[in-house]
Amino acid sequence: MGHKRLMLLDNTHDQVRVPNVIALVGLPARGKTYISHKLCRYLNWIGIKTKAFNVGEYRRKACNLEEEGEFEFFSPKNTRGQKIREECARLAIEDMGRYLDNKEGEVAILDATNTTRERRQYLVDYCKNLQHDPAFRVFFVESVCDDQMIIDSNITEVKINSPDYKGIMTQEQAKEDFLKRIENYKLQYQPLDEEHDNDLSYIKVINAGKSFFVHNVHGHIQSRVVYFLMNIHLLPRSIYLTRHGESEYNRIGRLGGDSPLSENGLKYAHKLREYFEREDIDDLRIWSSQKIRAAQTASALRDLAAHVEYWKVLDEIDAGICEGLTYEDFEARYPKQFAERDKDKYHYRYPSGESYEDLVARLEPVIMELERQSDVLVVSHQAVLRCILAYFTNKNRDDLPYLKVPLHTVIKLTPKAYSCEVEMFKFDIDAVNTYREKPGAAKLPEEPTQDTRVVAI
Ligand code: ADP
Ligand code: F6P
Ligand code: PEP
Repeated sequence: MGHKRLMLLDNTHDQVRVPNVIALVGLPARGKTYISHKLCRYLNWIGIKTKAFNVGEYRRKACNLEEEGEFEFFSPKNTRGQKIREECARLAIEDMGRYLDNKEGEVAILDATNTTRERRQYLVDYCKNLQHDPAFRVFFVESVCDDQMIIDSNITEVKINSPDYKGIMTQEQAKEDFLKRIENYKLQYQPLDEEHDNDLSYIKVINAGKSFFVHNVHGHIQSRVVYFLMNIHLLPRSIYLTRHGESEYNRIGRLGGDSPLSENGLKYAHKLREYFEREDIDDLRIWSSQKIRAAQTASALRDLAAHVEYWKVLDEIDAGICEGLTYEDFEARYPKQFAERDKDKYHYRYPSGESYEDLVARLEPVIMELERQSDVLVVSHQAVLRCILAYFTNKNRDDLPYLKVPLHTVIKLTPKAYSCEVEMFKFDIDAVNTYREKPGAAKLPEEPTQDTRVVAI
């Protein structure tokens, strides 16, 4: 009995959200910033508030690398360089500590090299000495990579465009300098190992995910981080999102339901097929919802794809008691509910139906599977695609339910080093506009701008 009670107490204790620090470890050009950004985006999207602290940015504010001698600044013999770097790491760690202590977020990511055992111990001790209750958990993510092809490509794709070099030297000089910077780091690099770091919690990601070593994982957040890191890959690919063609219900402004495509919707399915014939993708996977309008759209492309799968999880948001109503019906019948939805569209749950928050939870396995795959076309619906688009473009919960995902448009997403390129191909086939503006809000610009290219086809 006593034992059972203890277990119950333990479980309850585990429900308390424990702040987590995720500290990157590794030589320069090992994908640490890439991993930090991606983890940050994923954790925020699933509802775990996260912020990344990049020590390189603190260092850029503290001194000018051109004056400090570029790669020589990172030499272990450069006492001034070492001092500035230590100070920057300390400032970042303190900011991180405040962020977690003030409950601004649950996870802080320390994006730095953390290549010495001393620096890692400093972080662990700092977290312990804060005496926060519950104590911060520290999890190290080390990226080890000796594949020179990957390193060279990281330097030429990303590093030579870093603010450290912009306008200071040519790209060839920058590459040469960066390679020397790495050599300086190698002089004092102490990788994590079982013998010396037995008490720490960590994952080693080896050669961009070819293998992993996982040690002492504690709690829900760390295990989700491990699972996520084991599912991502670096191969170039694109993800295509489209809503089904215009449906009969869209034409009359009704929500949800399971109506077939309208005449224009059928035309779109046909043109969509021509678009993918031109894209000429080997091994294209198509994932459609199980609603008739989506399945009709996807089936027009069936023979172009390696696989077509119909997933119930891709079905549109369940509008519960409002299914089949128009927005006008909804407002007239349930004015209070209607106003509540406008107040907080992300969290508002339709009676007997779903909220956007519910949708994100339902779509998490889809995101994980998208991370694992190469080229995929997702044929789904307005609300579902907003959630998926928000994940890839790092949009917050206030903006997510208002993202523009118009009918008869293909959204092509191509992941880049720290962001995602968005191309919107708008087909010249009439469709109704199903977008309802947020009342009282300043009108959003017609076309999204940053990182987005809009093409009429
Ligand atoms: P760092 O922060 O370690 O200096 P970056 O994150 O700036 O390196 O490097 C970005 C590049 O790293 C991206 O082009 C990405 O393809 C690559 N990358 C991402 N993950 C890894 C990994 N686990 N190992 C090696 N390279 C990676
Ligand atoms: O109107 C089309 C539709 O897909 C409906 O089925 C769904 O309820 C709605 O869009 C979701 O959009 P919003 O969340 O903006 O009401
Ligand atoms: C940097 O200065 O770019 C940096 C990542 O700092 P550190 O190696 O000290 O972590």
